[in-house]
Amino acid sequence: MTTITVLADDNNSQSTITLNPSHTIANIDPLIYGGFTEHMGRCIYGGLYEPDNNHGLVNSKGFRIDVIDCFKELNVPVVRYPGGNFVATYRWQDGIGPKDKRPSRPELAWNGIETNQFGTDEFMDWCKEVGTEPYLCLNMGTGTLEDALAWLEYCNGNKDTYYANQRRKNGHTEPYNVKYWALGNEMWGPWQVEQHTKEDYAKKAIQWAKALKLLDPSIQLVSCGQDGCSDWDRYVIQECHSWVDMHSIHFYSAGESHYRNISSPYAAERAIQVTSALIDLARCEIDYSPWPNTARIYTGPRGKRRPKICFDEWNIWDAERAPGDKGAEEQYTLSDALAMGTWLNIFIRNCKELGMATIAQSVNVISPLMTSSTGLFKQTTYWPLLLFSKFMRGQAIAVHVQCAAYKGETRPEWIQSTCTIPKLDVSAATDGEWVNLAVVNVDENSNFETELTVLGSQSEVEVFIVGGESHQLTDFNSQGKEVVKIQETVWRPEGSTKFTFQKHSFTLLRWKM
Ligand code: AHR
Repeated sequence: MTTITVLADDNNSQSTITLNPSHTIANIDPLIYGGFTEHMGRCIYGGLYEPDNNHGLVNSKGFRIDVIDCFKELNVPVVRYPGGNFVATYRWQDGIGPKDKRPSRPELAWNGIETNQFGTDEFMDWCKEVGTEPYLCLNMGTGTLEDALAWLEYCNGNKDTYYANQRRKNGHTEPYNVKYWALGNEMWGPWQVEQHTKEDYAKKAIQWAKALKLLDPSIQLVSCGQDGCSDWDRYVIQECHSWVDMHSIHFYSAGESHYRNISSPYAAERAIQVTSALIDLARCEIDYSPWPNTARIYTGPRGKRRPKICFDEWNIWDAERAPGDKGAEEQYTLSDALAMGTWLNIFIRNCKELGMATIAQSVNVISPLMTSSTGLFKQTTYWPLLLFSKFMRGQAIAVHVQCAAYKGETRPEWIQSTCTIPKLDVSAATDGEWVNLAVVNVDENSNFETELTVLGSQSEVEVFIVGGESHQLTDFNSQGKEVVKIQETVWRPEGSTKFTFQKHSFTLLRWKM
C-alpha cells in the first residue's frame, strides 16, 4: 500500500518518502516472479529449444543453456505453458513419445505449423533444469474434459493406469506432480477458437474443476478471467469462486508517448483492486429472512478459503507495433523499463491479493530476453525485473510519498480520472534483514531531491540505477550493445537524508535494518 500527497509542480524540492520497516502489510508470494512460455513465434523453438544450434549454445537435450542461465538468474519460480491462444487447439498427446512419430499440425492462433518436437516431457525436463515449477493451461477450446483428465493423469498419475503408464513408457517413472492448472485461456476473446459466453464457460469450468479435483485433489485450479474489470470477471468469479484457487486476469500496458506508456500500468493496479472486490462480493452469503418484506439479509463472506488473483499475462505490449502473428518481438526502450518498474511496484503494493503473476512472455515474444543463433541479449526491461526478483521479497511495507503528479493524457483514458499518477512511483519490502525501496522517477526532465524519512542512522545504502541522466528515454538494447543496464553504487548519507532520484530512472535502494 502506498499513500500519496500530491505536490504542486513547482514544489519539486519538497518530495518525501516516509516508511517504517515495521509497518509491514502483507507477504509477497514468490510466485509473482513467474514466467510464461507459449508455442508462439520464437519463444519455444529458437528460444527454449534449438537442437540444431551449431554455436555451442545448447545442451544434450537441445535446450538453450544461455536461456536457462537467465531463468536461473531471475530465479523464476513457476512457468506457464503451452499458451496463451495456442492452447485452444493444442492436442497434448501429439507432443509425447518418439519424436519421429509426432505429427505436425496446423496452428490456428498464430497461423503457423506446430511440429510437436517440444511437448510435455521436454517442458518438464526443462523446468527441472531451470529449477522451476510447471503451470499448465488446459485446452478448453477444441479440447475435451477427457483430454484434460488424460493430461492430468499423464503428469501426476502414480497408479497402474493407462496414461500414467504411457508416461513411464516414455521414460519418466516418477509423476511430475504438476500443481497449477488453468481452466482455459481468454475463453471470452473473439479471436479464440471456441469462444465461450460467460455462462457457458462458468458452467463448463465447474464441471471440469469437479472432475479434475476428483482425479487429483492436490492440484490448484485457476479460472479464466478477462482484464479484471469486466462483466465476464464478475460472473465467472461469482459462479466459480468456490471451485478454484485463483482467478486469472490479463493486461498489456502500452502508450504512444512516454507518459501514456508509464500511465498504462495503473489500469492493472485498478484491475487488481476491482477483482479483489469482486471476489469479496462473490463470497457474500445471502440468507432468506423469515420476516415479511425483508426478503434478504446480507451475512458477510462465507467460508475460510478466498481465491487469490493470478495475473498470468502481463507486460508492456503494443500489438500494432509488434503483431502476434509476426512473432511479437517488441524492442523495449528505457521508457518501457520504467513502465516495468511501475508494474512491479504495483505487484508489491497489492501483494496481499496476488497468488501468482507470470510475465508474458519469457523469451523472444514480448520478452525481456532475446536470442539469436549466436547469443542472447537482455532488453531494458530485464533489469528492473532482475532487481525486483533479487531483492523485493518477504513482506511489503506501507509507504507514504509526497511528490508532484502527472496530470496529462493517459492510456487508457479513464486512468486520468481514476488514479493519481505520481512522478515518483514507489514500493518497499523487507526480508527481515534488509529494507528495499524501489522508486521510478517517471519525469522526463526533472531530478527529484527527496527526503527519505526512514534513514538517519544508515551509514551505507546500496544503490542500483537503471536509466537516469546519462540516458535518453528512447534508448534500447541490442545484441552486443546493452546500452541500458544496472549502474551499481554505494551511497553514504553521512547525516543527510536526502537522495536525488534522477530523471527517467528506476532506482532500488537497500540498507540493513
Ligand atoms: O501473450 C500473447 C498472447 O496474448 C497470448 O497468447 C494470449 O493469451 C494473449 O492474448
